[in-house]
Amino acid sequence: MDNNLTMDKLVALCKSRGFVFPGSEIYGGFANTWDFGPVGVELKNNIKRAWWKRFVQEDPLTYGVDAAILMNPTVWEASGHVASFGDPKMDCKKCKQRFRADTLVENHSKGLVSAEAMTNEELMQYIEKHHICCPHCGGFDWTPIRKFNPMFVTSRGTLEDEADKVYLRPETCQGEYVNFLNVQRTARAKVPFAIAQIGKSFRNEITPGNFLFRTIEFEQMELQMFCHENDSMNFYSNYKERALKFAEDLGLSADHLRFHDHDKLAHYAKAACDIQYLFPIGWQELNGIHHRGTWDLSRHQQYSGKSMLYLDPFTNEKFLPNVIEYSIGADRLTLAILCQAYQEEKLENGETRVVMHFHPAIAPYKVAILPLQKNLSDKAKEVYSLLSKEFMCDYDEAGSIGKRYRRQDEIGTPFAVTIDFDTLDDQTVTIRDRDSMEQIRLKIDDLIQYISSKIKFN
Ligand code: GAP
Repeated sequence: MDNNLTMDKLVALCKSRGFVFPGSEIYGGFANTWDFGPVGVELKNNIKRAWWKRFVQEDPLTYGVDAAILMNPTVWEASGHVASFGDPKMDCKKCKQRFRADTLVENHSKGLVSAEAMTNEELMQYIEKHHICCPHCGGFDWTPIRKFNPMFVTSRGTLEDEADKVYLRPETCQGEYVNFLNVQRTARAKVPFAIAQIGKSFRNEITPGNFLFRTIEFEQMELQMFCHENDSMNFYSNYKERALKFAEDLGLSADHLRFHDHDKLAHYAKAACDIQYLFPIGWQELNGIHHRGTWDLSRHQQYSGKSMLYLDPFTNEKFLPNVIEYSIGADRLTLAILCQAYQEEKLENGETRVVMHFHPAIAPYKVAILPLQKNLSDKAKEVYSLLSKEFMCDYDEAGSIGKRYRRQDEIGTPFAVTIDFDTLDDQTVTIRDRDSMEQIRLKIDDLIQYISSKIKFN
């Protein structure tokens, strides 16, 4: 990551290069919603694919699902979201701004205090003891702390009454719990096994902001490992390590990542930890790994009336599996990757280039095809049609070759293939490496193998 990177700089690059646009922009926007553009959608899809490959495709213990966003409302009673999901909010009486009390505490302590499991009384005590003032107006005149339920509500029938009330899911994992029996039966899965899914979640956040960091609509990549209690701490440690390695393998630097073990836990939890990333706004949660005990399955057993007990065919023991959850936001991870990749580099000729050093496996385009002159475009289009069967390719014939390289650097394309007059004679092209800017000559016939060998994610 470039030390000079600010969130404003990143937002500007994302907007000008087609990564991310403000949501509903032509109508003046819609706060804290963002639309992924042609380049951004490729990046995010590649990140999601890399997660799925690592945690589902390559793991014989894990099965994928894609559950409905709208669920039977009783699901949210069982999960505890209707009664107690919610952020502790408080208003500044002076300027009328609303804040999350736990965020005020965590920001004040620079992340040293974990406020997640603090009661409203404990939060208020801390705020008074440390005289935490309103970040907006500097006043110290707070309302009492109240719970604010951030679930979006909609209605199912044609009449908007209480009976028709449904929720937009605030997390994807409930779709995994409610399919525990279905997956176990159809996949003939034996505990331990995991269910994973990637999908949209919605939260009416009190303090959204910081670009993609906290939005009201976002994607989660969640995995629930169902296991025997005796194995549960091993799985917990194992997922901590695997989650960290995944983040590093995608290119997040080790010195920008750290574990943050929770000292206070939800009453049912046996252990909980975040992996934090050093964003330009400071250390913040990237993902969570939680040991949830038997809480989720026991609640769904109670509310649905269906037994969630598992009969171990080897030991004949009947038990309710424990759950280890690994949960990461696809948009938040995309933001971390954008921050990490950004670099302003001084060139020998005195110019500066902005380059996004994405791991080639997740780069939006793998290769750009650039005819040196417009009258080489027929040959260049031939090469484009060959390579685009294998990779996402960009094609650009407008402007000087230097400008075209700069544009590809800014969207993080790892390779640029230049078609020149020699190409017509000997069927070779120049291929330029984004990071080293070195160029070599290759036969067109060798391009697919060369590029494929450089963009693997293992
Ligand atoms: N099922 C557990 C769960 O949802 P969480 O800590 O609330 O736990 C998990 O969310 C992850 O989802 C977070 O670590 C973060 O990466 C992402 N996330 C949560 N709220 C978000 C928001 N409002 N905007 C973007 N990402 C969010």
